[in-house]
Amino acid sequence: MGTTSRLPLPYDDYKNRQEIFFKDIPKESLILIPTNPVCYRSNDTTFPYRASSYILYLCGWKEPNAIFMAYYKSDSWVTSIFVQPRDTKAEIWEGRRVGTEGASSDWPIEDAYSVNDMENIISGQISKSEKIYSIKGLNESLDKIIQSSELEVIDPRVILDEMRVIKSEGEILLMQKSASLASQAHIEGMKKSFSGIGEWEIQSIIEAYFSSNKSCASYGSIVGGGDNATILHYHSNNSVIKNGDLVLVDAGSEVEGYASDITRTWPVNGKFTDPQKEIYNLVLSAELAAIEACKVGSPWSSSHHAASKVIAKGLIELGILNCTFDEALGENYDGPYRKYFMHGTSHSLGLDVHDVGGGRQGDKGPQRILQPGMVLTVEPGLYFGSWREDIDIPIRYSGIGIRIEDDVVITENGPLVLTSECPKEISEIEALVGQGLSDNHA
Ligand code: GLY
Ligand code: MN
Ligand code: MN
Repeated sequence: MGTTSRLPLPYDDYKNRQEIFFKDIPKESLILIPTNPVCYRSNDTTFPYRASSYILYLCGWKEPNAIFMAYYKSDSWVTSIFVQPRDTKAEIWEGRRVGTEGASSDWPIEDAYSVNDMENIISGQISKSEKIYSIKGLNESLDKIIQSSELEVIDPRVILDEMRVIKSEGEILLMQKSASLASQAHIEGMKKSFSGIGEWEIQSIIEAYFSSNKSCASYGSIVGGGDNATILHYHSNNSVIKNGDLVLVDAGSEVEGYASDITRTWPVNGKFTDPQKEIYNLVLSAELAAIEACKVGSPWSSSHHAASKVIAKGLIELGILNCTFDEALGENYDGPYRKYFMHGTSHSLGLDVHDVGGGRQGDKGPQRILQPGMVLTVEPGLYFGSWREDIDIPIRYSGIGIRIEDDVVITENGPLVLTSECPKEISEIEALVGQGLSDNHA
């Protein structure tokens, strides 16, 4: 568990975020934002650590056992952080620590304290406060201190989530890096595919590309061959992919905390069959229409509605649905086309792959309107699992699962596709698959 003393974004960006956040907080409040806990796999073995996106957002702090704290004093907000103190014995086992001195000199925080002193210091601040803004359930010791105070506790995520929805230029640059890296990783996967390759081998090609570029997966990679592509969150990645089958790869990287999220689907033997082409081109048309709909001022649901219309029409044309267009679409975009396209088209993307800021503002607020700086995925798909007993699937399309997913920034000049380096036209994909194989696979 090493440490990084570098902030991914300019120091002032964090200070600006803090100021905007504090504007919505009454001055008699105490803010306490804990990071994620360390999760144990067994005994003293831990899962890879990832700090909470909220603490990353406010101050870029990556080490575990930290709490960001802020309170109003005299005429300004004072920011502080509780961190793991320097400790040679612990560092020998777990990695170097920034410690309190490093934290206050190099991070956008005024004071730093040892986490070992949190009880006294936080209790002291609580006694001067009237309300607490904190996220419960991440730090048991903090939760106990807060609970014993009997002060009103307010969840700050309502404010922070709205702030996180709009990405700054610096964030978009990091997201572009993440998107480019994941695009290249998918290209590597295409180049090294062949009939009989294991799903796990494609996963390893893609994730090796991430790690060789000092990155990691931003979520569990999905590599589903043939029918496995029709399972939306397929993670087993343990089957051999047969000649003639498509493989659906949904894999994204994380760069400086920021996620990309790409899906491409390709034939492992390098040649789409006619039925595969028919479904692929329908999903691609839906995806292009959905990207086109990502315009400033449009409702959040525009991409889904655009994709759904193309899919519903296409399913009728291919003879998969036998009804009118209006019937196929349904009154609330809930018609029979949903039997084959059962997920949404877009989600927010940022520090988290399924980032904060969904289709509505808050839980029950009005539908979100697309604004410059929002980043969302566009990812329609069609799934004809041969194992599905609940639906009719023409034999021609049985066993086909296709999704195409790109990452899109909303700009005044129209949608900006961060993942445009990753090919998605049939001819481009066919030209790539297998091109990176050594002779014994060719
Ligand atoms: N990778 C998960 C998703 O596309 O939403
Ligand atoms: Mn995805
Ligand atoms: Mn996605």
